[in-house]
Amino acid sequence: MKTVVKNIDRTQLKSEKSKGIIAQAGEILRAGGLVAFPTETVYGLGADGLNEDAAGKIYAAKGRPSDNPLIVHITEIKDLKKIAAVVPGEAYKIADRYWPGPITMIFEKTGEVPYGTTGMLETVAVRMPDDEVAREIIRAGGGFVAAPSANTSGRPSPTSAAHVKEDLDGKIDMIVDGGRVEIGVESTILDMTVTPPMILRPGAVTKEMLEELIGEVSVDRSLIDADSKEPPKAPGMKYRHYAPRAELSIVEGRMEPVIREINRLAEKKIADGYCVGIIGTDETAKKYENGIIKSIGTRTDEATIAGHLYSILREFDEERVDYIFCESFPTEGIGSAIMNRLMKAAGHHVISV
Ligand code: TXA
Ligand code: MG
Repeated sequence: MKTVVKNIDRTQLKSEKSKGIIAQAGEILRAGGLVAFPTETVYGLGADGLNEDAAGKIYAAKGRPSDNPLIVHITEIKDLKKIAAVVPGEAYKIADRYWPGPITMIFEKTGEVPYGTTGMLETVAVRMPDDEVAREIIRAGGGFVAAPSANTSGRPSPTSAAHVKEDLDGKIDMIVDGGRVEIGVESTILDMTVTPPMILRPGAVTKEMLEELIGEVSVDRSLIDADSKEPPKAPGMKYRHYAPRAELSIVEGRMEPVIREINRLAEKKIADGYCVGIIGTDETAKKYENGIIKSIGTRTDEATIAGHLYSILREFDEERVDYIFCESFPTEGIGSAIMNRLMKAAGHHVISV
């Protein structure tokens, strides 16, 4: 299959050229095809969420296990009723404040949503993205677009169209290139079918932000406790996602000892003939001595760290590094999403100094 790649100028969405690209993406989606497009979190791989065959193509293109359900993306709050059978009052409060935006809510599904979209579950995950390009494409595609992250299953989520092309060129109909994404980690997932609502995946909308709005919110134990015997409640969280090819270790502790330990570990691996990558920050990068050293962003603005996380893991893949040593980050705000993804990428391998 030939994959069409179109650049869209998000400052000119009303131009004839942009309208043409959106119309073409919409036609492909309505005909049951696959279109990758930017959202504010990561790039999504879209298909008509109400069409079982179309959703099925997503699994084939990504190599995704068929028990891993998809998120259905909408643009209008009135459309929620068509796919969610029970919508509690708290969900409307959350939608009021944070939709459109980086939070996904899980509800009991209606008969409109095929099991092929929900991985055979009786529930459906719903998100209303904020990115204008995503919104135009969802509208043009019929209003209910199932979209997982647009990566090959097991690779880091894509934060640029180039990442999507690396993984899916020749396997999907179209990629709409709207530039780099804004946030860089996937949406918060909140299960609204349980009381209190439960966070199944941390994202840019944090537990604190939700509790301020609706009161108590719980967190899936398996996210907190690495040795939890219970499988994660979001089926996708059980796979070793976000995995770089190299073995990743997180080094935690006070800054100076962390830097010393990373330098020591890197030197040892390099002496043994391995290629080593180091993930530091703007504040620390100059203090590393050997290996391929990258700054992930600045500690004074953790959003920059979220923004570079997946692209750095992909760069290290390309550079064929064998070991990656990474600093640790505080788990407040977006930090809980950053550490959740890093811990998964590291298979929970942490060195404390
Ligand atoms: O930010 C995002 O959410 C991005 C963009 C494209 O919107 N999408 C995304 O989709 O991250 P995906 O498929 O890569 O991750 C969705 C996660 C998976 O872990 C999946 O198991 C979980 O959501 N999920 C989906 N439906 C669910 C359901 N009904 N119950 C529990 N977990 C569900
Ligand atoms: Mg994903």
